[in-house]
Amino acid sequence: MNDLRRTVSDLLPGVLADLTDLVAIRSVSSLPAHHGDVSASADAVAGLLRGAGCPDVRIVAEGGQPAVIGRWPAPEGAPTVCLYAHHDVQPTGDPDAWTSPPFEVTERGGRLHARGVVDDKAGVAVHLAALRAFGGTPPVGVTVFVEGEEEVGSPTLAAILERHRDLLAADVYVICDSANWAVGTPAFTTTLRGLADLVVEVSTLDHALHSGQYGGVAPDALTALVRLLATLHDDAGDVAVAGLVRDDGFPLEHDADRLRAEAGVLDGVELLGTGPLADRLWTRPAITVLAVDAPSVAQASNTLTATARAKISVRLAPGQNGPAALTALKDHLTAHAPWGARLTFGAEHYGHGSQIPLEGPVADAAVAAFTQAWGTDPVQMGQGGSIPMVADFQRTFPDATVLVTGVCDPDSRMHGIDESLDLGDFGKACLAEALLLAELGAAVGRG
Ligand code: BES
Ligand code: MN
Repeated sequence: MNDLRRTVSDLLPGVLADLTDLVAIRSVSSLPAHHGDVSASADAVAGLLRGAGCPDVRIVAEGGQPAVIGRWPAPEGAPTVCLYAHHDVQPTGDPDAWTSPPFEVTERGGRLHARGVVDDKAGVAVHLAALRAFGGTPPVGVTVFVEGEEEVGSPTLAAILERHRDLLAADVYVICDSANWAVGTPAFTTTLRGLADLVVEVSTLDHALHSGQYGGVAPDALTALVRLLATLHDDAGDVAVAGLVRDDGFPLEHDADRLRAEAGVLDGVELLGTGPLADRLWTRPAITVLAVDAPSVAQASNTLTATARAKISVRLAPGQNGPAALTALKDHLTAHAPWGARLTFGAEHYGHGSQIPLEGPVADAAVAAFTQAWGTDPVQMGQGGSIPMVADFQRTFPDATVLVTGVCDPDSRMHGIDESLDLGDFGKACLAEALLLAELGAAVGRG
């Protein structure tokens, strides 16, 4: 344990330098202009694995963005552990809104700032650190799987999984793409919400009209859309769409004041909904209007708009399936269309949620390793975000143990401006994963 602690601490500067180089590659999977960068980032990940002594590294793609698979065969009698992360990132939004350039890792106050520095290139770096800690010969079989299109809903993951099922089969999956309870306190994620989204277009007029000539009689599409969107929640902020499932009863208390502070909710602004916060965050549906296509204020003229669109996103209870949720949402919208407005639906997507019980001998070993590395017991918590590959892998490999870990904390601002990684947590996460591999390898000798 002490040897491994020293080894990991000695190799952290090198790992952080590699993380910095990886972050500089703008691997935004949602922007076709950056698909060359996504390929470059897959190449860079492959290079890092080869550098860590991986004897079998390949880049795979099934018509989408490239993933990297690196394999160390299992020593006789040892289990195989698959380490997952993703190397693609979200767009930056307005780069000028960032305190420092989004693709240049910049340290401030014990945190590194950059797009992807935590979600999820830190996941790649944690795996790298754990593998380097064993000098290129880990004590278990290892398969590293680094996906290149997680942030766009993993459109070709099922095809990759089908094609490379044998390469990806493992006894244990460590999914390093989630968040911890607090800085200094680790967590295992035991539930993840699913996700379903669509675009709704509202049409009321054949063409735009002078708002003075026809206003008061002819309905404009933007006002109709706003009224429609307003029906998605009740006055208390609870979701008002029939048919969306709730999996109430998450066994953990969350504190409203802490949550307000962490989320940066402005003074006087209410939290949404009713009931336990843990359920509202993790096990119930949540609906967000992500975007609206309508005339911009700068371009506005005195006209009645003929059509307007919105992208609506629903976070799903861990147990609800995506198609049923999309049907419930469309039924609700159709039933609530104001003034007979016409609706059309498009761009539908969904991803599965999951339940990840922390049970069995591998989970026990993981809890022990994390407790040692962090110096405190890990929390079992849910997450409101989605990692749909977890359900796909659970279905494909039902006998495996899945561990959902991560290095994000409540102030990481994933997907947002000034995304950041806590350096102390990063070191602890690296040590925890190295200890876990050591523990799973040692179990072999003990029989
Ligand atoms: N790392 C996140 C998932 C996450 C978010 C875990 C918050 C814990 C807390 C992941 O990279 C992500 O953002 N996933 C997408 C999935 C979607 C595109 C299907 C998400 O949740 O929006
Ligand atoms: Mn993400």
